[in-house]
Order: sequence, then C-alpha cells, then structure tokens
Amino acid sequence: MINLNIEKTLGFVSMESVNAYEAEVMAAQEALEKGTRPGNDFLGWLHLPSSITKEHLADLKATAQTLRENCEVVVVAGIGGSYLGARAVIEALSNSFTWLQEKNETPVILYAGHNIGEDYLYELTEYLKGKKFGVINISKSGTTTETALAFRLLKKQCEDQRGKEMAQKVIVAVTDAKKGAARVTADKEGYKSFIIPDNVGGRFSVLTPVGLLPIAVAGFDIEKLVAGAAAMEKACGLDVPFAQNPAALYAATRNALYNSGKKIEILVNFNPKLHYVSEWWKQLYGESEGKENKGIFPAAVDFSTDLHSMGQWIQEGERTIYETVISVEKVSHKLEVPTDSENLDGLNFLAGKRVDEVNKMAELGTQLAHVDGGVPNIRVVIPSLSEESIGELLYFFEKACGISGYLLGVNPFNQPGVEAYKKNMFALLNKPGYEEASKAIQARL
Ligand code: PA5
Repeated sequence: MINLNIEKTLGFVSMESVNAYEAEVMAAQEALEKGTRPGNDFLGWLHLPSSITKEHLADLKATAQTLRENCEVVVVAGIGGSYLGARAVIEALSNSFTWLQEKNETPVILYAGHNIGEDYLYELTEYLKGKKFGVINISKSGTTTETALAFRLLKKQCEDQRGKEMAQKVIVAVTDAKKGAARVTADKEGYKSFIIPDNVGGRFSVLTPVGLLPIAVAGFDIEKLVAGAAAMEKACGLDVPFAQNPAALYAATRNALYNSGKKIEILVNFNPKLHYVSEWWKQLYGESEGKENKGIFPAAVDFSTDLHSMGQWIQEGERTIYETVISVEKVSHKLEVPTDSENLDGLNFLAGKRVDEVNKMAELGTQLAHVDGGVPNIRVVIPSLSEESIGELLYFFEKACGISGYLLGVNPFNQPGVEAYKKNMFALLNKPGYEEASKAIQARL
C-alpha cells in the first residue's frame, strides 16, 4: 500500500495547523459522499473502483484482444482527461524501449488528438502508412476539435488502407451514450463503443473505458489496476480516522502549506516512467482548483534529469514552493555498476552497487538539500511500478483532490475557464454559429 509522509513539511507548517483541518476535511468527505456541495453531479468517480463489474472488465478485455490481434499500432485519440490517464498508466508500466523493436507481441500505442500540430499529424500519418493500425477515439463531448480533427484523418486513412470492413473492426469509440459527433459516427459506422458515464468528468475518468481500454490494449492487467484503486478507496473511506487517511492528510497538508504562502506544488519523480503520471496529476489539480483567482499551481519535474535544469530555481529561487515526491520503493530490474580496473571515470566507489541505490541517494540528498533550502517536502512512497500500486496512486490523488478543492472553497468538478480559448478559436476560424463573435474578434486584431 502506498505510504504518505508529511514529516518534512513540519518545519514549515505545524502539525497543529494540519490537524486544524480535520473537521473541514470530514465535512468535505461527507459532502462528497452525500453530494451536498457544488459539482455533485460529477461524483461518479468516488465509488467507481469498487463498483466496476467483472462483466464490464471482460467486455473491455475482449475488445482490447480484438485490437491486439488485428493491429500493429493502435492510435489513442483524445485530449486532456480523455488522454492523460491512459498515457500515464501505460508509460508507467511499459518497458521504455520494446516499442522500438521491429516485431512486438503488443501493438505500439501512439497518441493523437492532443494537439493541432500539422507536422505531428503529418508525421504520424506517414508512419502509419502500410501499417495495420486501429484507433480508439475518445471524447466525452464527442465534439472536441483537436480530437475530432485527428480522428477525421485517422478514420479516412484506416478505411483507405485496411478497407471499410476491417476499419469497422479496429476503430472503437469511447464517448457519451447519446450525444456528440463521436456517438453519431460510431452508431452510423457500427463501431464497437463504450460509454463514459455522465457523472464522471474527464480528469476523473481514468478508471472508465477512457483509460481502461487503451491500458488493456497495451497489455496491462486492468483487473489489478482497479483492485489497487479499490483498496485505496477503502483506505481513504469516510470511516478511516483523519491521521490514517492518506487522502485526508495530503489534502489538509497542501492547504496548510498554501495558506502559509506556498503557492506552487511541484510533483517530483525519480523515475522517468512517471512523467505522464505528473502530466495527469497537473490536469487533475490544475483544472479542479485553479478558479476564482485561487488555487495551488501544479508543476512537475523529473529528477534527477531536471536537477540539472530546474534544480537551481528549486534550491534558491522564490520560497513559494513545496515538493511532493513520488518515490518508487522497489524497481523492477537489477543492474549493478561494474568495476573498471582503470577507473578512469573515478566511479569505482560505486562498483557493485545497484543503480537504484545511487538513485535513492540522489533522492535522499535532494530531499535534505531542498528542505534545508526552504522547500517543504511531502513523500508518497509506492511499493513498485505495478498495476496495483498505480491504481492506488491514481485513486489517492483523485480523492485528495476532491477533498482539497472543497477545503479551498471551489467547485473541484467544473472547468468553466477552458471554454475561453475555444470561443476565440471558433470565432477566428468562422465556425457556423460564431458570426457575431467573428466580427467582434476581427475588430480587435
Ligand atoms: O477534464 C476535462 O474536462 C477536459 O480535459 C476534457 O477531458 C478534454 O477537454 C476532452 O474533452 P472531451 O472528452 O469532451 O473530448
């Protein structure tokens, strides 16, 4: 089970100030359970892990198997909450290099619909030429421009390359039950489709088919992932005392730090496979809390890589930051530093040591240096990069986010601010229905 350690924040905020949140945390948890605060129509994630049925998982696994059998490459098309959860889990669990091999048992997973880069999409479509590829088109609204644009290109290419009949087999939609263009297309073309529940918002949707289908296609055990999340659902339950509830304690600590002037939280990892977990986490907290001119700014770094770039700022820059380190207790492989008789690089003092021991000392040394430099440090220790641990981690952050947003006094489940750029973009592109906005925006240029 993952372990939360807030000890190294206590020189900056007192245990009393953290414990002072206990009643508010309890009220926030009750509000989540009873649905009595704003955002109560988006609480479907709260007991999702414990309510996913074996039949649902079997359906997902069967579709994943169809894609695995018929595709060398599967492109996951989606953005934001319809993209980051799948990528976070897949990259955390994947071997970093096997996808470069000529022949793979598992389809290579690529991503699209998360940008509007013409070069990216051109290069992707070039790479897919002649390849047996499939597409998972993921969009809750079914109308997101980035995803719809990429899917238009991929659908055409898949049909042209593989024929209409095979395309129908290897294109799968994950979208709303009734509305949106992705639903209309899936129904008309006869694609296999999965429903994103109405009451689960994008950034909380990793344990719906949004995340589970791509993760299963990538060859990972979605039952174990869900079991890990369900164990954490229990560990963060309403009946668990404040001091033993990791989500409650994390939410309270980050709010205590925020109110003491620490406005930026940096999520740190010492394992490059966790890069996209940080990207997922940034969306989860950024979109949930950054509103009404409030909210901790969620940033992320990969150490030790970024100790050679952002390390200086973190050590000596403005003291408005704190770190939350995800520490992986046990790595999956063993690699020792070899002895070198000439010792030209002077590294024989490391000979015989595991590479992970060096990494762990970098981690410990960094923690001490940053705490000395005025950066409070929260530690989240996960036993290993396994499906169970990642499932636990995802649910832990989700539950803490719901509590934390309510402590901050915002609705953690809406995202009114993401519409502003879309309105302008549609006006600039003369989308039908935006005539007045087009005139107004042209006048500003
Ligand atoms: O969390 C969110 O609501 C967003 O990040 C959405 O997931 C993202 O904009 C994609 O939306 P959709 O799934 O409707 O295409």
